[in-house]
Amino acid sequence: MTSNIESTSLRDLLCGSVNENHLGQTLTVCGWVAKRREHGEHLAFVDIRDRSGVVQAVVDGSVDVRSEYVIRVTGTVTNRPEGTVNDKLATGRVELTDCTVEVLSAAEPPPFQLDDRVEIDEQVRLRYRYLDLRREKMQRNLRLRASVNASLRKAMDAQGFCEVETPLLWAPTPEGAREFVVPSRLHPGEFYVLPQSPQIAKQLLMVGGFDRYYQVARCLRDEDLRADRQFEFTQLDIEASFVTQEDIMAFISSAVLDAAEAATGTRPTTIASMTWAQALDLYGTDKPDLRFGMVLQDLSPVFAATEVKAFSAPVVKAMRVPGGADFSRSKLDALTEQAKGLGAKGLAWFRVTAEGLDSPLERFLNDEEKAAIAQCDGATPGDLILCVADEHAQACRTLGALRVTLGSPPVSEGEPKYLWVTEFPMFEGVDEEGNLQAAHHPFTMPHHDDLDLIETDPLKVRSQAYDLVLNGWELGSGSVRIHRSDIQARIFSALGISDEEAESRFGFLMGAFKYGAPPHAGFAFGIDRLVAIFAGEDNIREVIAYPKTQSGTDVMTGAPKSITERQVRDLRLKFQPKV
Ligand code: AMO
Repeated sequence: MTSNIESTSLRDLLCGSVNENHLGQTLTVCGWVAKRREHGEHLAFVDIRDRSGVVQAVVDGSVDVRSEYVIRVTGTVTNRPEGTVNDKLATGRVELTDCTVEVLSAAEPPPFQLDDRVEIDEQVRLRYRYLDLRREKMQRNLRLRASVNASLRKAMDAQGFCEVETPLLWAPTPEGAREFVVPSRLHPGEFYVLPQSPQIAKQLLMVGGFDRYYQVARCLRDEDLRADRQFEFTQLDIEASFVTQEDIMAFISSAVLDAAEAATGTRPTTIASMTWAQALDLYGTDKPDLRFGMVLQDLSPVFAATEVKAFSAPVVKAMRVPGGADFSRSKLDALTEQAKGLGAKGLAWFRVTAEGLDSPLERFLNDEEKAAIAQCDGATPGDLILCVADEHAQACRTLGALRVTLGSPPVSEGEPKYLWVTEFPMFEGVDEEGNLQAAHHPFTMPHHDDLDLIETDPLKVRSQAYDLVLNGWELGSGSVRIHRSDIQARIFSALGISDEEAESRFGFLMGAFKYGAPPHAGFAFGIDRLVAIFAGEDNIREVIAYPKTQSGTDVMTGAPKSITERQVRDLRLKFQPKV
């Protein structure tokens, strides 16, 4: 019997660990029957699989095992005979012979083949997730996730952070997503709210003197599900006192780079950084994907006094699409429709050819304008130039969206590109009642230099909020928080939040701040998203053990489902008929 971390009372080691060093030893492994082949009447080959891989057992005599039976096999480690070595398999040079086989558990035939090479309908995979999890890919992804979590915890511990668990049964938080609510049995008609994030709890920890907090935190948001969104997800959530934005960015960079190294074996050298205004101007988005070019160009000076109506606008932005000159007319029409759907008045396109520009607009342009387009971003024949003339933000956002449509590789492809985006605006537009909307949340500290603009030109106010972007996905956000009641009152007032509303929604936080709030700042990023990209997956479902389907159901448990009459009575619930 070998004694190691893999051994238990029932087995000596994992299937995938059996190798030539064990030749001649009699060993016991446990696992599932991956494959069984008869060789004549009295010899069978059984592949036994566990999380580490498979090992072949040669069994004399007949053995009544079928696919996915759970068995325990004891045999002698022997070299495989000449010609039967399989070098693709870690255990492919050896086999277990003279085996005794004990059936620990019989199994029905599985509803699908547990083989990574076979495409399986996702509903079926999720319905039988426990079988899907036996597949090599899912084993790999969830183990990768565990190692990312471990390295994040290690990085935060090493930087002096203390892990604190905050409640799941909580009160509304100001993140702005729809919340999941939990009825209270002891207080009929009243509800807990499941936290969208530990935002308020962690700020209260700062008042409580935990000057460096972190948590691998479960968060819940009732929002539409997408490739990068689930109802339940996990954040690495941090908050620290007596710090600046730069301190927080350094803490997070260190943790993310450690995790990248643990997951992929290479440590990205640096994380680039740009302001929100630069990101909008150059990429038309606050989460630029830096894995490819197609940087937006500004042709406004050339068109400042243009005679062409389509180009008379405050700003003319252009983007070179490499090799785009061969796009069909219907593809160009579809792009124009997409641009209009995004709010642009139109989209001008120019094919760059050896003879000059090819476009319905070409004949309206003067020579200088033509030259500017033909040379845009170093264009060469075969490229396409797309132009939008509009207000600055509209022109940038439109081309930014087309850039993603035309240029984005799958999120998990190529060398990962991390980017800090800083100086987000404090407010983003107004709601139906004419009130300003907070871009991050109402506790975000405005930029020092813009405090005077809060009342006079609020949409110009920059905040001390920052995002981390990876391959065009928003990985995380954070901000320096307001700890001074005078600034907080001015922000609430700008947001149209009355004293009474502030008191009822955030009273306990504001109340706590009266007792000595240290200056503090924090950040949170989505671990699901980070691990998905490390794992080469385009959907975070692939790195979550039990995710919900696109329509928010759990096809394995049947959730959400009705509850018993008794529970309804206890909770004193009344239902509206379905409409
Ligand atoms: P925010 O709301 O930006 O910030 O969330 C931070 C990160 O959490 C991840 N995330 C999600 N992942 C999967 N599914 C979802 N539905 C989902 N929603 C968010 C994203 C996102 O960038 N309390 C603030 C942070 C702070 O200011 O400290 C917060 O939660 O990766």
